[in-house]
Amino acid sequence: MRDNLHDYRKNYKHGSLDEESVDPNPFQQFRTWFYNVQNAGGVDEVNAVTLSTLGVDGFPKGRVVLLKKYDENGFYFYTNYNSEKGKSITVHNKVCLSFFWPNIERQVIIKGTAEPTSESDSKNYFASRPKGSQLGALVSHQSTVIPNRDVLENELKALEENYEGQEVPKPEDWGGYLVRPIEFEFWQGRPNRLHDRFRYRMEGYDWVIERLAP
Ligand SMILES: Cc1cc2nc3c(=O)[nH]c(=O)nc-3n(C[C@H](O)[C@H](O)[C@H](O)COP(=O)(O)O)c2cc1C
Repeated sequence: MRDNLHDYRKNYKHGSLDEESVDPNPFQQFRTWFYNVQNAGGVDEVNAVTLSTLGVDGFPKGRVVLLKKYDENGFYFYTNYNSEKGKSITVHNKVCLSFFWPNIERQVIIKGTAEPTSESDSKNYFASRPKGSQLGALVSHQSTVIPNRDVLENELKALEENYEGQEVPKPEDWGGYLVRPIEFEFWQGRPNRLHDRFRYRMEGYDWVIERLAP
């Protein structure tokens, strides 16, 4: 146990990213890195990502969500549309996704705009979840104040009985968001704090790739 956090130091040495190896397509670069992280092992939830939003109170807020899909359109996660993040996105749809993968010393930061996914996408994903998670989504009016834990447990019990042997319907206020990127940054830890950073930003219909100082 350390009290002096100054002594936490690490010399990054797992890899590099350079002008020759960086992919012209940021989605492909993400795919390669995501595979590398999974293959390297040692990270429990490689798809855990910090989603930052700008709140209706003007403050930014980050919280972890699970990335459930990515494709050439962008990055998908699922949540309650009436949660704090849902309300924030309704007002300010500009968001940021940040991944940190300590096993191979990489960070990816994606700025983009969030939009709700189609009802059929949300329904399909909801239907694929274990029944316990489906009922949990029904029970939890995410981000509202509740008096105690019992209200959740009691509601869950009641719903378990209600939906015994039946399909659980997706709550209306629950579904997916697609984050369409406008900027990516790939960060690879390197020795002596001289890390590799490459940023992709949209110019017209093209991605411009630039190296940033660490
Ligand atoms: C590892 C991990 C995964 C999570 N995955 C999700 C998720 O996919 N969707 C979600 O709504 N909340 C998820 N949460 C909970 C959120 O971090 C957050 O507490 C919740 O969404 C309410 O956030 P809000 O009040 O800012 O809207 C996860 C938390 C952790 C630590």
